[in-house]
Amino acid sequence: MNKLLEIQINKVSSSRLTKTDFNNLAFGQTISDHMFMADYRDGQWYDPRIEPYAPLSLNPANATLHYGQSVFEGLKAHKNDIGEILVFRPDANFKRLNESAVRMCIPEIPEDIFMEGLRRLLEIDREWVPDRAGCSLYIRPFIFATDDYLGIRPSAKYKFMIFTCPVGHYYAKPVAVKVETKYTRAIEGGTGSAKAAGNYAGSLYPALLAQREGYDQLLWTDGKTHQFIEESGTMNVMFIINGKLITAPTSTGTILKGITRDSVLTLAREMEIPVKESFLSVDELENALEDGTLEEAFGTGTAATVAHINRIHIKGKDYVLPDKSVDAFSNKVLKILDAIKYGRMEDEHNWIMKI
Ligand code: COI
Repeated sequence: MNKLLEIQINKVSSSRLTKTDFNNLAFGQTISDHMFMADYRDGQWYDPRIEPYAPLSLNPANATLHYGQSVFEGLKAHKNDIGEILVFRPDANFKRLNESAVRMCIPEIPEDIFMEGLRRLLEIDREWVPDRAGCSLYIRPFIFATDDYLGIRPSAKYKFMIFTCPVGHYYAKPVAVKVETKYTRAIEGGTGSAKAAGNYAGSLYPALLAQREGYDQLLWTDGKTHQFIEESGTMNVMFIINGKLITAPTSTGTILKGITRDSVLTLAREMEIPVKESFLSVDELENALEDGTLEEAFGTGTAATVAHINRIHIKGKDYVLPDKSVDAFSNKVLKILDAIKYGRMEDEHNWIMKI
């Protein structure tokens, strides 16, 4: 561990915990007491510290505000029956954050700053991890440029931060999606696989148009032909057709390498479900909807976990999918994932970091 990791700690004088209604947790609205931060300058990360969660002061010329040089992550912590905090796959988020950083010309975060910062923050704010079923602590690490300079170049200065929010469900009910064939989320050679702020900004307008028509999210198609399903706005997507699980591969660089996606595929293979990582065409999806061979459609993501899709709009037609049955794969895999995350099942995959 390098000497930078003497983390300075400045705690709140009065916690907001008692003012927080843990029975009504909307996603991302309640923020825990503290935040972790570190600064990058002169080619190194400095000053790891934990401070009371508070607004930042930014110069109007801040590079992130103008050019969006910013990447983020999302991971979750849960409480087990004896009050220990279980963080799900933080090593995978650390790795993906740095992959996103490289693509966006942002310096990588050293592992000890990410992991120790996270560990200390969760130790200090451990009371913020909900113990109610279906609730968790959503953790948001991010890095952004802090140069005050309007020329286009990679910033020389950055901030790395982590803050956390106790959350309930991201989607409280099944999701209706619309296949998008006009707008593009990602194209080969672009930034689609990076968890970069701008990817989300660019998706808002097409998603808003679909929301106005009554859909929750888009099903993005490839940017070249718009003939193949890629992912959804906040999730990777999976289909079960004729007993086979099909999801888009991540090899084209246009799909987010979802950690829930990877966990679900690992569990599916262990459950001996045939898994096909290949692009499903819009026509194939339409045929499967028409002839009833589409058994399940669902999204996977940290925030969304495993979200059942119950309506798909495709080529001007709405298809309603049956309710998720208890025997559905998506139901079974969600139960297993939850059991691992809440410590009710042995962590055979070494996915849990205990605090
Ligand atoms: C996540 O699932 O963690 C996401 O980043 C999706 C969204 C909340 C932006």
